[in-house]
Amino acid sequence: CGIVGYIGDDQAAPILLKGLEKLEYRGYDSAGVAVYDGTSLQVVKAKGRLKVLSDMINGGKDVPGTVGIGHTRWATHGKPSDINSHPQVSDSGKFAVVHNGIIENYLALKDLLMKKGKMFVSETDTEVIAQLLEYYYKGDILEAVIKVINKVEGSYALGIICADDPSQIIAVRKDSPLIVGLGKGENFIASDITAILNKTRDIYRLNDNEIVVLKRDSVTVYNTDREIVAKEPSHIDWDVSAAEKGGYQHFMAKEIMEQPKAVRDTISPRIQNGKIVLDNITLTAEQIKSFSKIYIVACGSAYHVGVVAKYVLEKFTRIPVEVDVASEFRYRQPILDDKVLVLVISQSGETADTLAALREAKHLGARTLSIVNVVGSSIANDSDDVIYTWAGPEIAVATTKAYSTQLAVVYLLAIYFADKLGVLSAEEYADYVAKLQALPDKISEALENKEQIQYLASQFFNVKDVFFIGRNLDYAMSLEGSLKLKEISYIHSDAYAAGELKHGTISLVEDGTLVIALATQDALFDKMISNVKEVKARGAVVLGLTTEHNKKIEQVADYALYVPEFCEMMQPSLAVIPLQLFAYYVASMKGCDIDKPRNLAKSVTVE
Ligand code: G6P
Repeated sequence: CGIVGYIGDDQAAPILLKGLEKLEYRGYDSAGVAVYDGTSLQVVKAKGRLKVLSDMINGGKDVPGTVGIGHTRWATHGKPSDINSHPQVSDSGKFAVVHNGIIENYLALKDLLMKKGKMFVSETDTEVIAQLLEYYYKGDILEAVIKVINKVEGSYALGIICADDPSQIIAVRKDSPLIVGLGKGENFIASDITAILNKTRDIYRLNDNEIVVLKRDSVTVYNTDREIVAKEPSHIDWDVSAAEKGGYQHFMAKEIMEQPKAVRDTISPRIQNGKIVLDNITLTAEQIKSFSKIYIVACGSAYHVGVVAKYVLEKFTRIPVEVDVASEFRYRQPILDDKVLVLVISQSGETADTLAALREAKHLGARTLSIVNVVGSSIANDSDDVIYTWAGPEIAVATTKAYSTQLAVVYLLAIYFADKLGVLSAEEYADYVAKLQALPDKISEALENKEQIQYLASQFFNVKDVFFIGRNLDYAMSLEGSLKLKEISYIHSDAYAAGELKHGTISLVEDGTLVIALATQDALFDKMISNVKEVKARGAVVLGLTTEHNKKIEQVADYALYVPEFCEMMQPSLAVIPLQLFAYYVASMKGCDIDKPRNLAKSVTVE
């Protein structure tokens, strides 16, 4: 989602619309503005692209006034609709709020407020904030804001205006970006610099739990104890295109770096008091116990998540799992009934083959569950149950953060199922939940190794062929590493189960062929060492990828790359990081069109 806010002497609506235009790539389910018109807050909002909103405003629904907030939405809680659009307002219309992020305890707060007589009109978590503000408001807006942020859990960037004091905008952030734009006789808030770059290049970056009070001529930042925080302004030199990408050269780089946040946003709302809570799925423990088989169906990288999921789900549930690409599955008369769970994975929720496979599975009587990134998409709508990944919009064609959030949901689901099946002890369960919570930080750690990977890319960006090899989970990661490389760098690459290479493909290995050997699982490490020796004996140059303690790799491989030690079942989330970065740097050194590789589409809605 995107946020923008303006206070000054000019008309707010045109400035807000212009800002939203720059943010539209972050979500275009709906858009809206709230402006104080001299007597009350006027809210105009609509489902659809920003154009729907600007046509409304320019075509008669004028919103005069010099203070306002605006929003463009990427749905998380509540489908795209007029009512669920932001700004959300409190019962009396006194407070208007725009919000990025997810309020994790919104249902409990909503219950509480409804008992106090508040009426809710939307399905959003944001409306809870507007109502809570009004509930706490006793004449001091800042005090109400502090009370609200002490009460809510989750991630948020908020822009707030109140009809009782239209001389100010209040904004606050926690785990969701928000900046203040500093002008002369006018000030701004925005979730991204791009939204205000045509107005000012001087900004404050807000830190978590900082609250800013924005007036025409002043900007004051407070902490939650209401003490004033001194801020240093920064000056932005980026051009607009760099700013859209958060200062990175490509959306892919930005999205790679966003993975810790995306994974945190996906996991943390689903862990409450040490338990995994998937409260919107209707699947009962009895149904989970009744499954004789799980099919996983998907395309592209989502299929590769499925290959990881096969190992993870079988390990945790001991239910047999089969994984298939959607275009194959749908035409092979799969053997299904209500004792089979068909798990469908899709970032877009619109991939034609995946959607058709889902419909076929339903038609044949299977129970369906989907893992989807886009709220209200066709696959989400047609599944019996859906678990959303909260990666936010992904712009680069080659998926990175959506892939990582899909993996995170797979772990959540596997542990959740294992718990319902009663196969984990309390200690094991608590341990896995703690690992899930630690995962985002581990991913950050894996991202720290950028320079070494950049160096390795510089050694290999001219090669013609690459083979990725690995066993079990590392085989699944080989598939994804190979796809990433070939889709954006156009280098021919293939992935093989390491033990299978000798049954044919090894004939392609010659002097100087690059083999990337993945060996992150201790139990299979020695087997991988043997496979590395096999290809070395045929002249291959080997880049070994393993965990930090397996230094032995250096005795056999030409180059070694390490990822942090972690829970073996979740190791794929760390192993994928160097693979993504390697593909990215190689493609960048070759001068490829990284965000829009030739012949590929982000969402393939044809068969
Ligand atoms: C396209 C994209 C791939 C993606 C696949 C499945 O081919 O280029 O990156 O993995 O579709 O997309 P979905 O939206 O279903 O995850």
